[in-house]
Amino acid sequence: MVQQTREQWGTRAGFLMAAIGSAVGLGNIWRFPYIAYDNGGGAFLVPYLVALLTAGIPLLILEYAIGHRYRSSAPLSYRRIARPAEAIGWWQVAICFVIAVYYGAIIAWSASYVWFSLTKAWGQDPNGFFFGDYLQMSEAPGGITGYVPAVAWPLIAVWAVVLAILALGVRKGIEKANRIFIPLLVVLFLIMVVQALTLDGSATGLNALFTPDWSAMANGSVWVAAYGQIFFSLSIGFGIMVTYASYLKRKADLTGSALVAGFANSSFELLAGIGVFAALGFMATAAGTAVDQVATSGIGLAFIAFPQIISTLPWGGSVFGVLFFASLVIAGLSSLISIVEVVISAVRDRTGMGRVQSTLLVGGLIALVSILIFPTHQGLHYLDVFDHFINQYGIALAALVMLLVFGWILRRLPVFQKHANSVSSLRLGAWWRITLGILTPVLLGFMMWDSLRAELAENYGGYSEAFLLTAGWGVAIGAIVFGAIMALIPWRRADEMAAADARNTAADTEEGER
Ligand code: ALA
Repeated sequence: MVQQTREQWGTRAGFLMAAIGSAVGLGNIWRFPYIAYDNGGGAFLVPYLVALLTAGIPLLILEYAIGHRYRSSAPLSYRRIARPAEAIGWWQVAICFVIAVYYGAIIAWSASYVWFSLTKAWGQDPNGFFFGDYLQMSEAPGGITGYVPAVAWPLIAVWAVVLAILALGVRKGIEKANRIFIPLLVVLFLIMVVQALTLDGSATGLNALFTPDWSAMANGSVWVAAYGQIFFSLSIGFGIMVTYASYLKRKADLTGSALVAGFANSSFELLAGIGVFAALGFMATAAGTAVDQVATSGIGLAFIAFPQIISTLPWGGSVFGVLFFASLVIAGLSSLISIVEVVISAVRDRTGMGRVQSTLLVGGLIALVSILIFPTHQGLHYLDVFDHFINQYGIALAALVMLLVFGWILRRLPVFQKHANSVSSLRLGAWWRITLGILTPVLLGFMMWDSLRAELAENYGGYSEAFLLTAGWGVAIGAIVFGAIMALIPWRRADEMAAADARNTAADTEEGER
């Protein structure tokens, strides 16, 4: 079967909106504020900026260059660089599968909370409401007990929207949706931030976030957190940017686009930090406590602290809640679309399947797994462990392996640099090869070793060994095994692909030597 002509973005702005839509997500709104706060507050901004400039933007450019040069999904692009590297692409496909199943669940909770904000459904006890009444979470993880329709319905709705947009294709679906989502998100979120800044005590919250604890900079784990945040937030290491860049036209400003997307994402992240901490400052002042008493981390920040803030507000609480949770839904949807597209485009490249058929089949399978697991009483435990392991030993590890294979073993960075320079407005200098060839892999390698050591010393989240072995290590290692197996199975359209592989490899080798 012959592959149809590859889909393309309509305009450069369309691509940029989609890339920013993918980057700006749940990671910016609920993850960044508490990560920054936990890791030195204002002082965190130094490792954060270093991570953005030395790893974030350079890796973004690398992924854009690979996608644009080989005009294929992640597995096929890597295969065209060197055949065995295809395994890294399928590994990233598996990572995206795992992230998509739980990411959809957080969007579904946010959608429920848009509704709950109208009536302040949590009453006097947001904590008990979230874990008990809404999620009906079990004490112990493992196994499957009850199923919660109140979580399942919004989750089904989230998947229906995501699959409908994906079925419409790159230009009519993804690009159009992002053109609506991004301006809407910016407007809603700005109103929310302005409302937060006018509250009594907002300055106390901002002081708590931005007062630098310089001693934190000497702490290795703060640097690990900064790099981890940049990877998750910029959507790098998932294969997303390779996939999105593969839909670019030949003429495309790769380095300029990476700078715009990278800085837009970080600006939004800072804005989220300001909005969230202004609101926390208000809550702490109202309760007569310190900000660190109310700044609970992670999921709790969005679904427990915010309802509390909404209930404490003297006026406009419901509006504030709707703005905040609707922003989470919109930011989440545009990121989820990009995560699922990695899987769809890989399957399409491999099988030659059409857009609608592949969306229904592949997207449908992801949706089914998501709908089966997360509305159960154990859903939150699975989410917590999937998220931790797939981030640490999925995204970050895959990025490290990419750099080792493409930079150290195959020595292709000069080829990609030349490629980016041939089409871009801003030319890459030797700094790009030095950061990606030396600095980032060494730092990432150290981070990986350090985090593995901590992981083996203490069970993550106090979970049982059996649960971590299956839902944590099992899933992370399973993704690697899946990648290896997929790369070993011969392609159905092997002859056609082999010819293309040979042409690409020859061209790269020649170019690298020149
Ligand atoms: N980049 C996306 C986020 O920040 C995945 O949530």
